[in-house]
Amino acid sequence: MAERTFIEQTPEKVGEVVTVMGWVHARRNHGKVIFIDIRDRTGYLQAVAIGSDADVFETASELRDEYVISLTGEVKARGERQINTETPTGTVELQIQAITILNTSETPVFEIEKAPEAGEELRMQYRYLDMRSERMQQNMRKRHEIVKHVRDYLVARRFWEIETPYLTKGTPEGAREFVVPARLQPGSHFVLPQSPQQFKQLLMAGGIERYFQIARCFRDEDARGDRQAEFTQIDMELSFIDKEEIMQINESLLIDIVEKIYPEKRIQTVPFPRISYKDSIEQYGNDRPDIREDPNDPNVLAFCWVVDFPMFEEVDHKAHPENKANWTFTHNPFSSPIEKDLESLRNKENVAEITSTQYDIVLNGCEIGGGSLRTYRADDLRKTLQIIGYSDEIIDRDFGHIISAFTYGTPPHGGIAWGLDRLVMLLQGEKSIRDVMAFPKTGDSRDLLMGAPSKII
Ligand code: AMO
Repeated sequence: MAERTFIEQTPEKVGEVVTVMGWVHARRNHGKVIFIDIRDRTGYLQAVAIGSDADVFETASELRDEYVISLTGEVKARGERQINTETPTGTVELQIQAITILNTSETPVFEIEKAPEAGEELRMQYRYLDMRSERMQQNMRKRHEIVKHVRDYLVARRFWEIETPYLTKGTPEGAREFVVPARLQPGSHFVLPQSPQQFKQLLMAGGIERYFQIARCFRDEDARGDRQAEFTQIDMELSFIDKEEIMQINESLLIDIVEKIYPEKRIQTVPFPRISYKDSIEQYGNDRPDIREDPNDPNVLAFCWVVDFPMFEEVDHKAHPENKANWTFTHNPFSSPIEKDLESLRNKENVAEITSTQYDIVLNGCEIGGGSLRTYRADDLRKTLQIIGYSDEIIDRDFGHIISAFTYGTPPHGGIAWGLDRLVMLLQGEKSIRDVMAFPKTGDSRDLLMGAPSKII
């Protein structure tokens, strides 16, 4: 194929013959001239086929919306009166010398830029058409930029990117799990991870010291605007660290993302305010306070931390009759209590008063992340699990591996995970995380494009 010029580069190439490739966005046939708007990932360009060139004109008249084409021609400066200030390539147009149709297209089931009017079912079923729209292209591009920024930022601060298994064992994080039958061990199954929580702690036991992962997580729960059964976390864990340092790294990284990728947005308060769980419940009625002064300003980002969560809460026996224990964990059993409450944990007393080191990060009333310092001594984890009603037999069966790791010199550690989809949704001003995921599932967790889940045949 000829060397390709991206559409956004064409204004710098006046007088040159270039080849652009992309999709037919629109056509206007004016009898002796045909205007073609060609679109690639970088923008739109007006191209002109003139009647005096019979071959070009004939092919141009065959074009239909969404045909994939290659156009070779001269980039010409537009006359003063033809300049279109609405588009970045509005100062030029392409005088077509050759057209190749690389692929044809059926009439799209919806007009690309009017995809939302087609309804979500059709958008999902034809996600590859929806994804060609400017809105989805922007969402995908910004998501990519955010991930790249996070990666560069953390790598520069000595983090290593490490993958942890998807076929694994259940880990208690409060949601129902997806199970995968194990063919080679009939009757046994793997569980898809709700998060890499235990593995990242085991990486700390393994001397990795600073880890991150762009990790897929699986939770078999009903989807909502801000929840999917399969979603992505920016997950990190650090050894030899205190709570302040973890919060600082994350706060700086979030500020940096906004400054570099969303310069038009304004963070309401820096440093991010910290609100205790108790105050949040009292003042806002929930633990993800929306502290925006002007909730109607789309460019305001009101971050805050919620801290001082209780470590345990009483079991709601009506909702969970199967749970015979009195207490359950509020986040996960791996969080450590604050230093001064360690004695209570060890003595299993004043359970209601034990405060966790948990910190949640909230943006405009949506929880975008959470983490804690961890329990890293074997006896303390056992005590925590006993408080939530696990017998020693179950503890050894289900947590023996991590308790064992803690007996072989596991350093003090802590971490956090961000809900990447939620963060991108809020930064992009979208209402649903579905719009910032390439291939999301519907509210009832179906993949309409692939037709999953489906019967096994
Ligand atoms: P947690 O369960 O709070 O913590 O999850 C961290 C963040 O992930 C996002 N999130 C979700 N996003 C989309 N769909 C979902 N179903 C969904 N569930 C959670 C939220 C949430 O704040 N292992 C711990 C983290 C840690 O302690 O380091 C964990 O997974 O934005």
